[in-house]
Formats: sequence, C-alpha cells, structure tokens
Amino acid sequence: MMKEIVLFFAVLVAIVIGQANQPLNVVPYPQQVEMGSCNIPVTSILITSNIESTTFSVSMERYTNLFFPFNNVSNSEENDSSSITLEVTIYSDDETLQFGIDESYNLVIQEESYQIKTATIYGAMRALETFKQLITYNQLDNSYSIQCVSISDYPRYPWRGFMVDTARHFIPKNMILHMIDSLGFSKFNVLHWHIVDAVSFPVESTTYPNLTKGAFSPSAVFSHSDIEEVVAYAKTYGIRVIPEFDIPGHAAAWGIGYPELVATCPDYAANVNNIPLDISNPNTFTFLQNFFSEISPLFFDNYFHTGGDELVTGCWTEDPTILNWMTKMGFSTTDAFQYFENNLDNIMKSINRTKITWNDPIDYGVQLNPETLVQVWSSGSDLQGILNSGYKALVSFAWYLDKQVPDGKIHYEWQDTWQDFYAADPTVNITSNSNNILGGEATMWAEQINQVNWDVRVWPRAIGIAERLWSSQSINTVSLALPRIGQFTCDLSRRGIQSGPLFPDYCPMQDDLVFTMKPNIKLSNSEIKLILNK
Ligand SMILES: *[C@@H]1O[C@H](CO)[C@@H](O)[C@H](O)[C@H]1NC(C)=O
Ligand SMILES: *[C@@H]1O[C@H](CO)[C@@H](O)[C@H](O)[C@H]1NC(C)=O
Ligand SMILES: *[C@@H]1O[C@H](CO)[C@@H](O)[C@H](O)[C@H]1NC(C)=O
Ligand SMILES: *[C@@H]1O[C@H](CO)[C@@H](O)[C@H](O)[C@H]1NC(C)=O
Ligand SMILES: *[C@@H]1O[C@H](CO)[C@@H](O)[C@H](O)[C@H]1NC(C)=O
Repeated sequence: MMKEIVLFFAVLVAIVIGQANQPLNVVPYPQQVEMGSCNIPVTSILITSNIESTTFSVSMERYTNLFFPFNNVSNSEENDSSSITLEVTIYSDDETLQFGIDESYNLVIQEESYQIKTATIYGAMRALETFKQLITYNQLDNSYSIQCVSISDYPRYPWRGFMVDTARHFIPKNMILHMIDSLGFSKFNVLHWHIVDAVSFPVESTTYPNLTKGAFSPSAVFSHSDIEEVVAYAKTYGIRVIPEFDIPGHAAAWGIGYPELVATCPDYAANVNNIPLDISNPNTFTFLQNFFSEISPLFFDNYFHTGGDELVTGCWTEDPTILNWMTKMGFSTTDAFQYFENNLDNIMKSINRTKITWNDPIDYGVQLNPETLVQVWSSGSDLQGILNSGYKALVSFAWYLDKQVPDGKIHYEWQDTWQDFYAADPTVNITSNSNNILGGEATMWAEQINQVNWDVRVWPRAIGIAERLWSSQSINTVSLALPRIGQFTCDLSRRGIQSGPLFPDYCPMQDDLVFTMKPNIKLSNSEIKLILNK
C-alpha cells in the first residue's frame, strides 16, 4: 500500500513537473524535449537534404527565406563560425500524402551538429518549422542565436484540419495560398475547402459550364488550374486539401445554372439555405456522378466531403413532384434522405473516395455506410453516440472561430477566446471508443469574413486549436502556453500573417513589413506539375 502511495505521488510530481517544464518557446509544444546547455550564435543557415524532391526543396527555400526576418544582421562571410549547416536525413522518398502519413521527426541541435531525421518529407517540414521557432532574435546586439536541444516529436492526432468557406465570400486564390502559409506554420495538415454553398457556386466545370452562373461574378470563380495550384502549394506544407460539396441541402446555387436540379418550395424560399436538391429526378444523380468525376481528380485525397447538414425536408414535401415520388416509393422524409446518401455512396465508390459528412444525417435517423467519416459540429454527447455506433469522427463543435463567444464564456478581451478553444480537449466527457476520433477541425464560416479580415479573426486564436491537436493531452495549461503563444504570434506577424498580440509586450518588426495576402513562395507551372506528379 505504502509503495502504491509513493508511486502515486511520484507520478503526480512527474506530471506537475512535466507541465511546468515547457522551457522552449515552441508552438505546438513538442512531445519530448531534452534541453542542451549551449546557445549558438547564427548568421546564416544552409539546409541540405539527402533526397531530391521538388516538393521538399520548396519547403527548404521557404524556410531559408524565413529564418532571418531582419536583413541588417552582419553576414556570414564576416564570421564563418556562426554559419551553420542543417542536415536533413529523410529515410523514404515516397511523397504520397494521404491520411495517416508519418509526420514524426527528430531534431538535434548541438555544437557543430544540426540534424533532422525523419521518415518522410512531411516530418521534415514539421521539423523545419520547429527549428525556425528555436531561432531567437536578440535585439540588443542585433544578432540571432539558436538553443541547443534534442527533440523527438509526433502529432497526437493524424487529422488536424481547418475549414475555409469560399462560398459566403469569394476568397481570391492568392489569399487561399496565404492562408495555407499560416496553417502550415501552425502544423495543421488538412485544408477542408467548403468551396460552394447556398449563396454561391465559385467552381469552374467543363462538363456543366452553367454552374458558374451561380457564382457572385464571372471573376469570382476557381478554375481547374487555380485548384491545382492550391493543392500543389498545400502539399509543400504537407497539407491535404479536401473539397466539400454540401448536398442535398444548401443547394440553391446549383439551381441558378440548372434549375431542374433543385426542389421548388415557395413557402421556404425566403431563406436561401432551405433549398435542397430534387432527389426524385434520376438526372440529379447522373449530374452528380458526372460532375464529381470531373472534379475529384483535381484533389488527390482519398476523402471527399459531401456536407449533408441542415437539410430542410419541408421543402421536399412542399414540391408536388417530389411528394408524389415519395408517396409512390413509400418513403418518409428519413427514407428519402437515406435513399440520397445510399446513391451518393455509389458515386463515391465510382470515384474511389471515402465520404465525409457532418453529423446531421445521423441525427435525422439515416444509417450511414460504416466507412463514412463523421464531422461532429453539434455536441460532445452526439460525438459519444457516433463513436459508439462505430463511426470514425472528427471533432469540430468546440472550435467555431466565427463565434464571438465560444461555449458561453465571457472574456473582456475578444482574443482571449483562444483559451476556450485551447480548453476543448476532443476527449472531454468521452468515456468509450475515443480511439475512433481521428482528430478535429477548426471552422471559419465566412458570412462576415473575406480576404480583408480573415487573418485577424483567425490568428492568434486558432493557435490554441493547433496545439490541442498536435501536443500531448497534458500540455493544457493556459498560463504556461501564454508566453509561448505570445512569442509565436509575434513570429507569425513578422512572417506577414496579421496575428495580433495577446498581452502588453514588444514585438520588433521589420520597418518595411507589408501584410500582403499573398503566398510566401510563387510556384512555377513546371513545379506544380512535378509536385502533383503530372
Ligand atoms: C538593425 O541594426 C541596427 C544597428 O545594429 C539595430 O539598432 C536594429 O535594432 C537592427 N534591427 C532592425 C529591425 O532594425
Ligand atoms: C565570431 O562569432 C563568435 C560567436 O559569436 C565570436 O565568439 C567570435 O569572436 C566572432 N569572431 C569574429 C572574428 O568576429
Ligand atoms: C447555359 O446557359 C445558356 C444561356 O446563358 C443557355 O443557352 C444554354 O442552353 C445553357 N446550357 C445548359 C446545358 O443548360
Ligand atoms: C482507391 O483508393 C484507395 C485508398 O482509399 C487506394 O489504395 C487505391 O489505389 C485507389 N484505387 C484507384 C483505382 O485509384
Ligand atoms: C462535459 O460534462 C460536463 C458535466 O456534465 C458539462 O458541464 C460540460 O459542458 C461537458 N462538456 C462537453 C464539451 O460536452
């Protein structure tokens, strides 16, 4: 008994020390850190890699440009001893980027030896970000130095997503690339592209060219080559891009070019979100089959999001054609929704994609195919039920960045809501099947967001979510995270992301710093082809 008590206290002390011991200003905090005793002055850094890869060379070039934000530091030729070579060793040259790829890395910094060792180029990208954060700018003598340390790191969750909504407001391609910069810096690895919605359809289709009549403007449209550039650019951060075509609800924009695709229900039409697809018409499914066959090859990911949220079945039953069809088929509204999801499964199978939906079909009583990945926006108790039914799930309900007051907490300063996102562990109140949680996604719905205010609404608040998804569950204390996040938000702003401060401090910035809403590297067409293996 005594032994157990001693052990208990030993564990307790270890946990407390583990928490208190966050000596590095790194976000998200790494899994294992062993501090070294030296601090090495640096004036220039050369990155070398044992493999040839266009994708990874973009990443190396990017970080080489980011290491030294102030260009008035004396250069390496004056003092060779502070010019260092960072050696990257990658054990596999397989660049396949899909769910579950190995992102782990080892980073060792000691006198005369600067080593990164990883299984994949994606682990090496995470390591370069950590390395960047270990470089300190010392304003007093206008110099840079790097902390000696040994880090062994890997993510807690393999799915760390961020949802961008380009339907409520069109977001220009260059701004999407800039957003990807900010997500990559924070070690997010999925861009969930909520690309169309009820109010606009900004995606070019060669099969159905009239779809873009549903765009806000002919200039507010993503071409196939825009999409390819986004997907290739994201790959240079190890970010998978997954499109969401939200159906059968929220489908009004499909009906602007092709009115026969959508239901007709005057009583509901005052709210554009209420208009679903007409599922009684077999041509609707032919259309979806052809359209998704055209679009899905632009996205190499095995997953494909088909929405499924906020279906208003009253619109179906108000449309006489649909009501007659339901009566003939003997369908309730739930049966009709079930019929839709079953047909959609056949289409997903034909394009070889795994379906993601929001939790709504399940709430409505639909049995989803067990392979379906369910993104839960409703609540933790819904999540528990979904996990217990055997589905794999993504957590989103606590991470709605568009909400001004998450989870009913009141903060005097709005940016302090980062703490609410930080507090939301995906497993809170989950008592069984928590290993069916693949991770989670922050969501930024864009009714009141466009390229002008996206940065300042998202950052620094989303840093808390990035850390919750990457770091160990025990790294969860606001007071310990705050100084690190303060340092990182300063670093982000020096890199051109408009991430503001959280407390009184001084963040020296470049005199000529411009917030550009542009990517930090421009890919050439030939690089895009090489990155996409085309
Ligand atoms: C540039 O160099 C000067 C002189 O060493 C120094 O005072 C200043 O802080 C440096 N950094 C910036 C950002 O100007
Ligand atoms: C070069 O840098 C090192 C480390 O800061 C310093 O000890 C040394 O004096 C410098 N040498 C010269 C010639 O400036
Ligand atoms: C597309 O719209 C044009 C008019 O803008 C129309 O002439 C054409 O028939 C439409 N095509 C389809 C397939 O609906
Ligand atoms: C279909 O997707 C699976 C992974 O979900 C992949 O292993 C397989 O190669 C794909 N098949 C084709 C024909 O693309
Ligand atoms: C967890 O359970 C507690 C106690 O029932 C409740 O107050 C809290 O809101 C729950 N949190 C979540 C995220 O469901």
